[in-house]
Amino acid sequence: MDSSRFSPISWKEGILTLLDQRVLPGKKSFLNLETVDDTVTCIREMAVRGAPAIAITGVFGLALGARAQSGNVDKTDVENLIAKVFASRPTAVNLSFALKEAKKRVEQVLSWEDHYKIWKAYAVEMMQKDLSDNLRLGKNGVSLFSKSQKEFHVITHCNTGALATAGHGTALGVIRSLRDAGNKVVVYADETRPFLQGSRLTAFEMMEEGIECHIITDGMSGWLMNHKKIDAVLVGCDRVAANGDTANKIGTYNLAIVAKEHSVPFYVCATRDSFDLSLEDGRKIPIEMRKEEEVTVFDFLKNGKGELYLQPGTTSPAGARALNPSFDVTPHKFISSFITEFGCFLPGEIGSRLS
Ligand code: MRU
Repeated sequence: MDSSRFSPISWKEGILTLLDQRVLPGKKSFLNLETVDDTVTCIREMAVRGAPAIAITGVFGLALGARAQSGNVDKTDVENLIAKVFASRPTAVNLSFALKEAKKRVEQVLSWEDHYKIWKAYAVEMMQKDLSDNLRLGKNGVSLFSKSQKEFHVITHCNTGALATAGHGTALGVIRSLRDAGNKVVVYADETRPFLQGSRLTAFEMMEEGIECHIITDGMSGWLMNHKKIDAVLVGCDRVAANGDTANKIGTYNLAIVAKEHSVPFYVCATRDSFDLSLEDGRKIPIEMRKEEEVTVFDFLKNGKGELYLQPGTTSPAGARALNPSFDVTPHKFISSFITEFGCFLPGEIGSRLS
């Protein structure tokens, strides 16, 4: 795949360009950002989404914030700038790690100009590292699939591909690598209500790649595992606690339970920046609650001109209340293996593999 055509984030001559994922697949629309406030809005409103892509965008946002200032820094202003980006989305730990590292890199630096240069360079470095990590992760994932089989049927949830990362993807990266190793892969993509990352973004990526993909609604996976041989469930993650409990897009937990019931391996694909060893287990992972309207109406996807890209129409009675937790936590007992750029291992091995 031509990854430049697909990249959700690019930086050229001081302008941050994001592929607007709210309006895909209806329209390939690009947003040019020049301020940290616009960057934070784009992260919050999910014009860019996916844990690695959020972290990279956040650091570019810091660079834009630094560029808007001049002279010597006041440490409180730096802290406020970092806090503003940090507040954009809470669940994925990648952003928080990236902001900590960004802060460390400017500890001895005085001018805003140098902050700008250092943060811009760090964001570019993150993009390169994320792509190479994903390529390694993909290869490691292939090792878990039988060598004597040439066709694999997998279920995935949300979007973990080139759109959510700097390229290749994590769970979708394993799917790409499986195909690149000469296999036929058939993907069943959970539509992933309410934001529809599966039906809008994963199906789009798979179709562009020529990988067979069938969209299923989130409640269909049990039926599917009952009626077809599914070789694996592959998902990404937003934060993994020290014991392996894993936060990922809402609906992942249900899928993991169904996979266990059907003895289908459930693989969580994660780069190092997803592991939050400061949390003993999943209970303290912050879960983002989003607007009720994302659940009750189908017309929340609008571009800057207010044009709609999904079927307009209300899917619930006027005034109906809704819950919209954006992530859930899958207990480690449902996870067959983590797939990372540094190998595949069980939840119980996190301590030894990450120390
Ligand atoms: O709300 P989103 O679309 O940012 O959620 C994305 C996910 O849950 C992904 O599975 C996760 O960030 C991993 S992306 C490599």
